[in-house]
Amino acid sequence: MSHDISALRKFVSPEIVFGAGSRKSVANFASNFGARHVLLVSDPGVAAAGWVQEIVTLLTDAGIRTTVFTGVSPNPKVAEVMEGAELYKSSECDVIVAIGGGSPMDCAKGIGIVATHGRNILEFEGVDTISNPSPPLILIPTTAGTSADVSQFAIISDPDRRFKFSIISKAVVPDVSLIDPEVTETMDTYLTACTGVDALVHAIEAFVSTGSGPLTDTHALEAIRLINRNLEPLISNTSDPFLREQIMLASMQAGLAFSNAILGAVHAMSHSLGGYLDLPHGLCNALLLEHVVAYNYSSAEDRFRRVAEAMDIDTRGMGRAQIKLRLMQRIIELKKRVGLETSLAKLGVSVSDIPYLSGFALQDPCILTNPRKSSLRDVQVVYEEAL
Ligand SMILES: [Fe+2]
Repeated sequence: MSHDISALRKFVSPEIVFGAGSRKSVANFASNFGARHVLLVSDPGVAAAGWVQEIVTLLTDAGIRTTVFTGVSPNPKVAEVMEGAELYKSSECDVIVAIGGGSPMDCAKGIGIVATHGRNILEFEGVDTISNPSPPLILIPTTAGTSADVSQFAIISDPDRRFKFSIISKAVVPDVSLIDPEVTETMDTYLTACTGVDALVHAIEAFVSTGSGPLTDTHALEAIRLINRNLEPLISNTSDPFLREQIMLASMQAGLAFSNAILGAVHAMSHSLGGYLDLPHGLCNALLLEHVVAYNYSSAEDRFRRVAEAMDIDTRGMGRAQIKLRLMQRIIELKKRVGLETSLAKLGVSVSDIPYLSGFALQDPCILTNPRKSSLRDVQVVYEEAL
């Protein structure tokens, strides 16, 4: 006898410490895992901001040896993961800590996988491909948006295929996430906008996903509300600690939602675009968002009405066409106000690139939970509209 499990929902989360100064507990957590030698993963920008040295000092003061790996570029590459894993092994590390944006955190997840399997990271593309548990992993995000610090996603770039592939597994949820709004103070305006819009897209895609449910809906709606109200003010005043904390909280909630409800066509198409042109992930999402909302709208009308309401649109008395229009207008306005208005053509994409981009977008696991089924032609049309 078979049982229908399509309505069952699970919820996975790391242990989270949220709040100003939470990064300072890194040595306690590392010690609890029995750390003797930590591999600290970061990137040159975060190191220049001084955050790497602070973590090294905290660990050293607790008697833990540290090897620093900052060889991570934006959109972390296969070779960088392999190099980090080599360093983990040759330094005889036992715990991984990463401080940075999505790139160092995803690279750290990849390093953990390779360190325990001894195989190329390319072999772990897809859903639930990991058999061995990774070393203890502590993540400290320095941007408010990618949510790699709470999610069961790792996104790695394969320059040979000009493709970003996804690894989706409970095994890449870190053990601990230290979410500290103080470390986002070194984000510039552009990065704040890119990562904030990425978080908004996470929340919207999670809420309309076919994998959504009561465990993720409240997080998704609250994230949409917080970003809609606080991102524009934060862009005009990036040093405001209250606004930074609100967006950090929104990012965390969006992360918990999408990690468990998965995403949709915006992410499938933006992963393809980001791998092809090595563009910022949030920017790719921003330029696709309203086009995918328009495409999906009829498949999740009631859900999109609730998204519109979370964006402070008073939908009472409105027909479905008007709600759709107002939602699209608000998304476009928000993008413009945070400085992310662009098009594929302006970024150097031409019509002839679209078949290639579409083929990879259809292979991305995020396409499977999009509320509307998408054929190759559907995806091509949406890219064409974003040109
Ligand atoms: Fe994202």
